[in-house]
Amino acid sequence: MANHGFISRTGITTFAEAANACQITLGFGYDTCTFLSALGLLAGGGLPSGKYSIGGAHARVPNTLGPSLGISKHGFFEVDNSISRQDAYFGDQANFQLARWQRLVNITENYGGQFGIDTFAEERVLLYDEAKATNPRFDAGTRWLAVTTAERVFIPRALPNGTDLNNANFQNVAPFYLNETFSREWFRRPTPYSLANTGTDIAALLAASSELTTPGANEGLGNFVPLGTDISDITPAQATCFLASAVFDNTPGFLSPALVDNYATVQAFLSGAVAPLFAGYRCDLNFAKPGPDAGDSTAGVNETCNTLRNGVYQC
Ligand code: HEM
Repeated sequence: MANHGFISRTGITTFAEAANACQITLGFGYDTCTFLSALGLLAGGGLPSGKYSIGGAHARVPNTLGPSLGISKHGFFEVDNSISRQDAYFGDQANFQLARWQRLVNITENYGGQFGIDTFAEERVLLYDEAKATNPRFDAGTRWLAVTTAERVFIPRALPNGTDLNNANFQNVAPFYLNETFSREWFRRPTPYSLANTGTDIAALLAASSELTTPGANEGLGNFVPLGTDISDITPAQATCFLASAVFDNTPGFLSPALVDNYATVQAFLSGAVAPLFAGYRCDLNFAKPGPDAGDSTAGVNETCNTLRNGVYQC
């Protein structure tokens, strides 16, 4: 969105700017876009100013409540099992990985070249099993479930050309990844893609998966500790509530350090700006005060050499 000028090209956006641009450019619903931008702000921004960096920490985002580390900071919005990025444990959760993309493209060949639900069901199980076997700190928690499923259903819903809605093929999807642009002569989808639509698609993605991908975490290799969340037979409304639990979650240890000591401010923002979006779904929205060790002040990516041309970074 920044490359096309729909949000600031400076790398710093705001809660309102990104929520608006997401609707204008990709044709997502008010609810979906407001939710996503709230998650971005909470993950890496300055809550009083509404500003956040779309990469790593930067001086232009005020640290009013503590350090604002940008949305590439791992652990809140940035999770393990991203489509085109490595797990944080391997050292670089932020930069595009061409080999990972190429593996995805190969999987699409089993499904008529489509970046659809079947492709992502296969790819997501592959990444889950791979991380479970190789990443001793694989974290497949509540936000992992919400983000890894949502980002996958977003692709076939946002990126096919709006004139051919059932065609999320290489031509339509590849520019988003390889050059961080829209496809040439691309039109946005005609109807807003809502949180209800997202829940329906996430339920379909999980149902199409060959393996359950049980949420949990590795505490060392060969020691996967399940979280106890049953995702075997979920309804669309329950899947929408998984999205809500990405922010209304009893787990401490997820907030940006900027927000850990400002729980009341966070709670007010969540109650006013986010909870109403989920009012129709009867989600169990509890937000517990984070513990004292919750903040992790490791910064995100650096800000040089980050322009993608055909999948390769340029300085
Ligand atoms: C204000 C709105 C948005 C914000 C703040 C945002 C932020 C993020 C963040 C932090 C990630 C990293 C997640 C991870 O670790 O896997 C991500 C991934 C992703 N987002 Fe967004 N997002 C927004 C809107 C959208 C929209 C509307 C789409 C629709 C195409 C989208 C598509 C994706 C995809 C496909 C990925 C996975 C990238 C990959 O790993 O290959 N996002 N987003």
